[in-house]
This record gives sequence, C-alpha cells and structure tokens, in this order.
Amino acid sequence: MDLTLKIWRQKNAQAKGKMETYPVKDISEDMSFLEMLDVLNEQLINDGKEPVAFDHDCREGICGMCSLYINGQAHGPDREITTCQLHMRSFKNGDTIVIEPWRAAAFPVIKDLVTDRSAFDRIMNAGGFVSVNTSGNTIDANSIPIPKHDADKAFDAATCIGCGACVASCKNASAMLFTSAKVSQLALLPQGKVEAHERVMNMVHQMDEEGFGNCTNTGACEVECPKGISLENIARMNREYLSASLVSE
Ligand code: SF4
Ligand code: FES
Repeated sequence: MDLTLKIWRQKNAQAKGKMETYPVKDISEDMSFLEMLDVLNEQLINDGKEPVAFDHDCREGICGMCSLYINGQAHGPDREITTCQLHMRSFKNGDTIVIEPWRAAAFPVIKDLVTDRSAFDRIMNAGGFVSVNTSGNTIDANSIPIPKHDADKAFDAATCIGCGACVASCKNASAMLFTSAKVSQLALLPQGKVEAHERVMNMVHQMDEEGFGNCTNTGACEVECPKGISLENIARMNREYLSASLVSE
C-alpha cells in the first residue's frame, strides 16, 4: 500500500518542532508499524536526509519504549497492544497517518518522536521496590502463602511496562495509572506491606514533583493502556495514600 505520513520533526529539546509530510510506497500489510518507519528511514538515508528518531527496543510489547501517538491515539487504533505490535493491516492504501510524540510537560521531547520519560524512573526510585536482606539468608519468596486473588491482582498490576500511554492519553497528563500500578503490585503482597505507607507517600510526592496532572476519573488512561491496567489500581492507591496519611498525622 502507498501512504502519506505526517510526522513531528524536532531537532532537539530546545528547537521548535513542526509536522513534515513523507510519502511511502509498497508497504506490506504484514509489516509492523515500526518496520514501516524503518522503510521510511532507509528512504530518507538514501536521499541524504536525516532519519526520523523514534524509540524502540524489544519490538514485542515488553519494554514500553515504542511510544507513539498515531492518528490521535496512543499506540494507534488497536486496543491493548503497543506500537511495535501494531500491524500495517490496520491501515488501508492511500491513508494519511499522523505520527506524534507523547505530549506532556513531564515528558519533554528530546528529538523528533523521542521523549524523556525519566520522570517514571524517579517515581520508581522513590519507592517502587521492597527492601530485602540479601546477605545470604534470604527467605524463598514462595515460602509465604499468598491468596490466589491477591497474587492475580498483583500480577495484573505488574504487567505495566511503563510506556507512558496513560499520561499521553490523559487530558491532565496524569501519571496516576502508572504510579498506582507500581504501588499496587507491591501493596497487594505480604513482602510489600512492610514499607507500604512510606512507599505510597514517597511515590505520590515524586509524581507531583515531576509535574504530572491530577486524576479527574476520565478513564482515557485505562482505554489506551496496552496492558489493560485497571482503574481499580488508582482507587487502591488512593486508599493506601489515605491510610498512610492518617498514620503519619
Ligand atoms: S499503566 Fe499502561 S499505559 Fe500507563 S505506563 Fe503502564 S502499561 Fe503504559
Ligand atoms: S519496542 Fe518494546 S514494547 Fe514496543
């Protein structure tokens, strides 16, 4: 199929970006979206032009790097997949596809379609871990029985890949879905309960420090999340935060 791509180009963080138009020809419907961008970049390099910078790593829906806004939707038109899992059969010959980076003050553009998502790393550093004794007498995690329901909920929360689609889809650029998934995956398990109060306070504080917006229960984050992370995690984080605030009063 032949397509017209309208892509955000921006030389660096300081430069003023703009949309540029590129035609691409003979794109197979079996190609992934990123392979289609590879074709464009080969074409640009052959023409002596600067290729389009975009993030990617695993190309199989695991790493969360391939964060693109495609035709006004995070990770494109299909549900519960990342951009690298999106195939060109979701488009048709003659289509115009608009490709932009995530838009959020806390995710500044570094170059073209690449944004700086280190704000998520700093939220994790603030409390997204359990402190364990690694001196040689560690307890096997499987020796602590965990109710199946809790284990399943914790696993669901742990499938968050930190892609940032929730922030990009939210009209407030809120990071509540991401932060609540990271709080929940530990708060639901006995190993995470020891530091639960400190964790939720520190992670929410860091989230606010980074300049993410507030949650107004719109739910766009849940709809666009490639891993189906549920809004119930936000409710759980709010309960965790409330109980931590009461204890620290
Ligand atoms: S909650 Fe979903 S959309 Fe947000 S970072 Fe995690 S996987 Fe991505
Ligand atoms: S490149 Fe890793 S999730 Fe898409």
